[in-house]
Amino acid sequence: MHKFIEVLPDKTSLISRALSLTVEKIKSAIERRGQCTLALSGGSTPKPLYEALAEQSLPWEKIHIFWGDERYVAVDHPDSNQLMARQAWLDKISIPAANIHPMPTGAQNPAQDAQTHEMELTQFFKVKPGDFPAFDVILLGMGDDAHTASLFPQTDALKVNDRLITVGNKDGQPRLTFTLPLINQAHCVIFLVAGESKRPALAQVFAEVASETIYPSRSIQPQGELFWLFDQAAGAELKV
Ligand code: 6PG
Repeated sequence: MHKFIEVLPDKTSLISRALSLTVEKIKSAIERRGQCTLALSGGSTPKPLYEALAEQSLPWEKIHIFWGDERYVAVDHPDSNQLMARQAWLDKISIPAANIHPMPTGAQNPAQDAQTHEMELTQFFKVKPGDFPAFDVILLGMGDDAHTASLFPQTDALKVNDRLITVGNKDGQPRLTFTLPLINQAHCVIFLVAGESKRPALAQVFAEVASETIYPSRSIQPQGELFWLFDQAAGAELKV
């Protein structure tokens, strides 16, 4: 793993840096492997990045879009990560519908939808069941509790190491999520973290000595490249 840490002066420069890095990694994946598999994070931080990506001229037909996690809601629900990315970006570009691979949430059964999506991934990447495909780029955010994707502290989802997709849980609400081993198989993971509220979690993630508590974002150690992009508000106190 190669780890890179960058503290940007403000949110605008953070998004601008995230844009240039994401475009660079998309182009490099297409050059090397003929296509790019890109998994999106949800939440609020990446929305301006997605809006900026909508303005880029890229070979969208060679880019496949996935989500690293999804709230277990209908696709038209305001909490849907898929809806946010479609409105900010994907509905504004000409990308083949078959290149967009949302996490299904329609079965009224999160475990069943998790299994369905797992099968979709194994077929898309042509891997044997139980093998972990390597996404080209996975975008991640981090919550105030150091969760990432929908891998929350002290939850069973953190222990799943034999599946690609599992069911996460936030305050009793189910979510579908990439598992730690799937994320850690990636060629490139890019964390985008903004705001003062993230400081305590970042302090734990970057602490010299790991604490008893598992901070999920600390467990993200991809086999490829790991980029941490912070704004000053989030990363000011870090000694990195
Ligand atoms: C989600 C995300 C989640 C998010 C963090 C940070 O579905 O909410 O995937 O992991 O990245 O909660 O969210 P903010 O960017 O809104 O702070």
